[in-house]
Amino acid sequence: MNIKELDREFIADTYARNDVLFVKGRGSFLYDESGKEYIDIGSGIAVNIFGAADDSWAQAVTKQLSKLQHTSNLYYTEPQALLARTLCERTGMKKVFFSNSGAEANEAAIKAARKYSTDKHGGSEEFNSIITLKNSFHGRTITTLAATGQDVFHKDFAPFTEGFFHAEPNDICSVKKLVKENGCCAVMMELVQGEGGVAVLDKVFVKEVSRICDENNLLLIIDEVQTGNGRTGELYCYMNYGIMPDIVTTAKGLGGGLPIGCAMLGEKVENVFGKGSHGSTFGGNPVCAAGALNVISRIDDALLRDIKAKSAYIVESLSGQKGVKSISGLGLMLGIETARPAAEVVGECLERGVVCLTAIDKVRLLPALNIPDAALKKAIHILKEVINK
Ligand SMILES: Cc1ncc(COP(=O)(O)O)c(C=O)c1O
Repeated sequence: MNIKELDREFIADTYARNDVLFVKGRGSFLYDESGKEYIDIGSGIAVNIFGAADDSWAQAVTKQLSKLQHTSNLYYTEPQALLARTLCERTGMKKVFFSNSGAEANEAAIKAARKYSTDKHGGSEEFNSIITLKNSFHGRTITTLAATGQDVFHKDFAPFTEGFFHAEPNDICSVKKLVKENGCCAVMMELVQGEGGVAVLDKVFVKEVSRICDENNLLLIIDEVQTGNGRTGELYCYMNYGIMPDIVTTAKGLGGGLPIGCAMLGEKVENVFGKGSHGSTFGGNPVCAAGALNVISRIDDALLRDIKAKSAYIVESLSGQKGVKSISGLGLMLGIETARPAAEVVGECLERGVVCLTAIDKVRLLPALNIPDAALKKAIHILKEVINK
């Protein structure tokens, strides 16, 4: 039996896999079993932030791997402490809870918000609702599905966790109405709705939500699972908006290809979790944390400038081209609305050796932050030809 057959027979059928088996990679290039080369402008859905098998990252990971792979969170480890300090210093957040994934980072944020509110209201859970936005995506656990504002995710798995209300994005009246009608403790949102079609929230709306949170004593939670770690041209996307969240969650690119996520806790919630109130066996695992420390330490001003320049290059190259209806996104998180169905464009790109993604009805680009100019140019040229067809 070949690998594809084994996969189909023995792996739960949750993924619509493309007919490609990748066996190795180097930077922004991937290779399948026949040796065919692909330019990767999807980076495993915003995960391989410095591409495949990046030397510096791989060295940091293997160095830790050969020293100590795991201890449990009953003991101190160096990579976790250093990573937490770096994240706090670079964001102004006060403490970090480490998870393994984005959904778990959001679960931690939701628990932190509810605990904060319960503590504040003398044990009453009357104010524990959370407002999220329609078209959002916050994860696949039962609670983060409830937080997710897309009806398509709200079937088959009921009952979902209660206490989530979905406001219209970019409609401040809708947020105000839900705040007024419900006993709330937080607003949680992505600033660029990635899975929702790379939809960028308006600056005025976001600032107003932040003001409403201040005015009503609500926590502002920003889900940066996809937008975080340099992706949008700032270390975290909220830095593009001139706001200061109370909780920031991230994952994906943080580990550069290993599973790690976190909820960063600001001043109001820094002491909300006491011993035993939350936990994770693998969260902040030393090997993953060593990789993440390498990733975060390399996202500097020069790289962020380069991300913006590469973004501008892609937008300029595709704007006004035949078959391109619109382009949305920030930095190296871009969505292209095409005249041809997005899935068809992505499928043909793959055949021609370019790996990209869809996001609802758009073609989504999430290249490695350090993709070489020549590789990016070639990939965009092919994409343009496929879109134009
Ligand atoms: C904004 C956002 N939040 C949460 C998640 C869930 O992350 P994970 O798949 O690591 O659980 C995703 C994944 O796509 C995401 O884009």
